[in-house]
Amino acid sequence: MLIRKPGHDPLSSEITPEAVWQSRREWMARAATIAAAAGLSSWANRQAFAQAPDALPAKPNGAYSVMDKPTELKDITSYNNYYEFGVDKDQPARYAEKLQTRPWTVSVEGEVVQPKTFDIDTLLKLAPLEERVYRLRCVEGWSMVIPWVGYSLANLLKQVEPTGNAKYVEFTTVVQKDNMPGLRYPVLDWPYVEALRLDEAMHPLTMLVFGLYGKVLPNQNGAPLRLAVPWKYGFKSAKSLVRIRLVEQQPTSSWMQAAPSEYGFYANVNPDVPHPRWSQATERRIGEGGFFTPKRKTLLFNGYADQVASLYQGMDLRANY
Ligand code: MTE
Repeated sequence: MLIRKPGHDPLSSEITPEAVWQSRREWMARAATIAAAAGLSSWANRQAFAQAPDALPAKPNGAYSVMDKPTELKDITSYNNYYEFGVDKDQPARYAEKLQTRPWTVSVEGEVVQPKTFDIDTLLKLAPLEERVYRLRCVEGWSMVIPWVGYSLANLLKQVEPTGNAKYVEFTTVVQKDNMPGLRYPVLDWPYVEALRLDEAMHPLTMLVFGLYGKVLPNQNGAPLRLAVPWKYGFKSAKSLVRIRLVEQQPTSSWMQAAPSEYGFYANVNPDVPHPRWSQATERRIGEGGFFTPKRKTLLFNGYADQVASLYQGMDLRANY
């Protein structure tokens, strides 16, 4: 118990160990930001939000976060691309409720010394959860800023020990026939498959994501786990992963197979390399202004050039789109 001495008002840092105090301060600040974004005004509401059963506490990682204002929660969760639930932006939010996210396992296999199948709840505890505010730039010309919760994919890949033959990582996402109305349409050859070069997958910015805005991922955003690869167009960030396979040859992703002249393997955000149907020079930030608000200039590697440009040194970015 703390006994107050006259004339000495203790600082909270004197009562609680410094590290605990600091992390509590960060947590409270973050809970307030999250609650504000979610439109929760009263203190009681904010507390309830931070303590919700689906809360996913994470330590903010400022070094890996952009300073852009995060997109509002309602926009992040209602304007989605998740074709297994339909091709319209509002369909994932309408239909993804049926997605079964437990039990859920992810197998990590192929060119690895220790292949393993992980239960989702084991994966959640594999490394400390961090909150990182990343930009997401869709090839269709819109962008968002999302406070993801997760950790670097490298944590998982190191556990299974890639062999010397592993050059690429292929990601396969879930197929639940009865729960995904979009599977009836041959938009893609399901399941949705994406891939990265091993060094891209091992880059600390490449994130395995379990939540956003301090809570577990909404189904329409790729529950229970997805990728976030912030310097690439959004389609590389595959949702609802069930298999991760390390391979020697470059895999063909679902989009490359569907339209090879439109979607390449690399898909690095690049304002100077237009998509055949969309210029990539500018973008519309979701939630920002109205119809007449000027668009933002798109940045090379989505603004992450300092961290990732070296991965592509000497490569022709136009040929390797
Ligand atoms: N993953 C799966 N399984 N199915 C999809 O249709 N769409 C991709 C990507 N991951 C997609 C997917 C595209 S095109 C984008 S832009 C992002 O998810 C969108 O993520 P968001 O809806 O969380 O913003």
